[in-house]
Amino acid sequence: MTDWVTVGRVDSFKEGTRVSVDIDGTVIVVFNLDGKYYAIEDICTHDGGHLTGGEIEGDQIICPRHGARFCIRTGAALTSPAYEPTATFPVRIENGEVQTRDDRWD
Ligand code: FES
Repeated sequence: MTDWVTVGRVDSFKEGTRVSVDIDGTVIVVFNLDGKYYAIEDICTHDGGHLTGGEIEGDQIICPRHGARFCIRTGAALTSPAYEPTATFPVRIENGEVQTRDDRWD
């Protein structure tokens, strides 16, 4: 099982913000949406664009390259030109820290 990695502290991870973390070459973006945390891979399934810098609208992030929208909560591709979901990851709060891990290889 892969280790949990700390992304930031709860008290400094404000609503509406995001933090990226590199876990063994996989970049995971963790979002605080209305006080709940969600984590998706920083990869657009259309053509590999980085979602980190994308605009957020509600619970959607928009790929900066060609405009595909993904659901931050589920990773689902919501609009073309992306049709496959991006990966999602677990998030937990431990001792006041927000943590995630890449559980795909467990
Ligand atoms: S790489 Fe994201 S929409 Fe094309």
